[in-house]
Amino acid sequence: MNDCKATTWPPPPEPPRQKELLQDLLFSLDDEQRLLNLAARFQPAEDYPLAPHCYSRCLLLRNPDGREVMVARWDQGAATPIHGHPRYAFVYVLRGRLQNETFQHTDQGLIPGERRICGPGDHIYAAGRKGRFDNAIHRVTALAPSLSLHVYSDDALKGISWD
Ligand SMILES: [Fe+2]
Repeated sequence: MNDCKATTWPPPPEPPRQKELLQDLLFSLDDEQRLLNLAARFQPAEDYPLAPHCYSRCLLLRNPDGREVMVARWDQGAATPIHGHPRYAFVYVLRGRLQNETFQHTDQGLIPGERRICGPGDHIYAAGRKGRFDNAIHRVTALAPSLSLHVYSDDALKGISWD
């Protein structure tokens, strides 16, 4: 059983480092290649909070419409629940090794899809249906201590969870 409950840390009170880059990320969600180019230029800090046996979500920038850029720091073995996403979701691995398992939602329930191991520079991108929070259903498991950059449209925490 997965009892990891991720904590979300608010954006820092001072203007974020690399603010222009973060804003460009927020407004490039419909362009996978541009997101990749921007993410490759992102310079992570050294001090993201560690949640033992779990992962922490550290918000870097959030737009009033719910778009957000955040960094997740993963302890080894941490796993998300099986969950869906808003219209756009982009994940870029900065450090470590993340396993991504996809699922299809059918009348018979969830059916496992593919499993992929992502290392530094690898990414996950999904463009789904507007106004829905059950797009791109997946589960992420950290196979090593990891750091990843995430960009979402709408309100990512409304993503539907199946666990
Ligand atoms: Fe996700």
